[in-house]
Amino acid sequence: MVSGKSSGKEIEKERDRVVLAYSGGLDTSVAIRWIQENYGLDVIAVSIDVGQPPSDDDVIARALRNGAIKAELVDAKKEFVEEYVWPSLKANAMYQNVYPLSTAVARPLMVKKLVEVAEREGAKYISHGCTAKGNDQVRFDAGIVALNPDLKVIAPMRECPVTREEEIEYAKENDIEIIVKKESPFSRDENLWGASCECGALEDPWMEPPQGVWKKTADPEKAPDTPEYVEIEFENGVPVALNGKKMDGVELVASLERIAGKHGVGRIDHVEDRLIGIKSRETYECPAAITLIAAHRALEGLVLSRDVIEYKRGIEQKVSQIIYDGLWFDSLRPALMAFVDETQKVVSGTVRVKLYKGNYTVVGRKSENSLYDMGLSTYSEGDTFDHTSAIGFIYCWGLPGRTAANVRRKQSKK
Ligand code: ARG
Repeated sequence: MVSGKSSGKEIEKERDRVVLAYSGGLDTSVAIRWIQENYGLDVIAVSIDVGQPPSDDDVIARALRNGAIKAELVDAKKEFVEEYVWPSLKANAMYQNVYPLSTAVARPLMVKKLVEVAEREGAKYISHGCTAKGNDQVRFDAGIVALNPDLKVIAPMRECPVTREEEIEYAKENDIEIIVKKESPFSRDENLWGASCECGALEDPWMEPPQGVWKKTADPEKAPDTPEYVEIEFENGVPVALNGKKMDGVELVASLERIAGKHGVGRIDHVEDRLIGIKSRETYECPAAITLIAAHRALEGLVLSRDVIEYKRGIEQKVSQIIYDGLWFDSLRPALMAFVDETQKVVSGTVRVKLYKGNYTVVGRKSENSLYDMGLSTYSEGDTFDHTSAIGFIYCWGLPGRTAANVRRKQSKK
């Protein structure tokens, strides 16, 4: 943690403190001063690195120059992948079967880090830049009170929404250093597991997403003309190697994102149901997440029984909803994850995926725990299946239907 220089004015009495979730962007840079002036609080700026693209400048130094009494950068990439992304991959978590929850699953980790700093620094407040219409405000607010019910939340953009122009004006008037980038018509959120994009032209669900929304993936039409194969090795449901090379989670996700993104894999265009009841059109780019979930599911298909796979589907949907709804810290998630973890004890093996012009196709899978028995499945030589056993089985399987049909027939003749 770096401490800010005294402004010269002696502070008469110690002010209460607020921990601000700070990105270095326009909103949170302006928020440092805004909160000081309008809430009379000292601001501790905390920037949490979950793999978003870094700023061109030193955002921590700039937070201090802009008046934060302390500023801190937390590298949470490893924890993000190991404690949040991997559990959600084990549950094949996808909201409404399409969105791999890349933004949603990072929020509880951010909450945890903000609460840790607040407790260490004796702050009574946490502040975030969410507006009143999204899911993220729910995830922050509900997560914070679930970890520490004494903390209070300040959300300036929800309490007093301002336009981008007004923020720039306020920054000028108050000598706040901001990096004014070319205005993006979209609202973006990005981390190692994927990128989300909303607003602007996307608000018309009939409009094809303009090229400007895509940053992590090549246009599938311009992607390489030759397919590329990747081999992903899993141990107990967790990816441990890519193309035969052992890697830690952060490196594996980042490497796979580059490869799959180059082939235009992982673009999602979705009209989504937000928790607060609004339908919203969003695009996502999740090349690594989409490829890993497909590979993981394929491996599960090889090593898990039909019953477990089917029962797990229901659990997966519930886990996805919990993550989306901001209830990570509630007691149902760990209980469901205990079920998921139990199933993952046999999910070890290798999956081969073919990437080609926006498509990802699982083309091979192998495992020491494979339940696939060549003798039973083959239609060629080496068949070990007792063909006579099918007749008795089907007689019993069809017996309730046969019985009911006989009863109906008798009744119709009366
Ligand atoms: N709709 C997604 C979710 O709730 C993504 C939100 C992205 N946030 C943003 N500021 N663009 O998880």
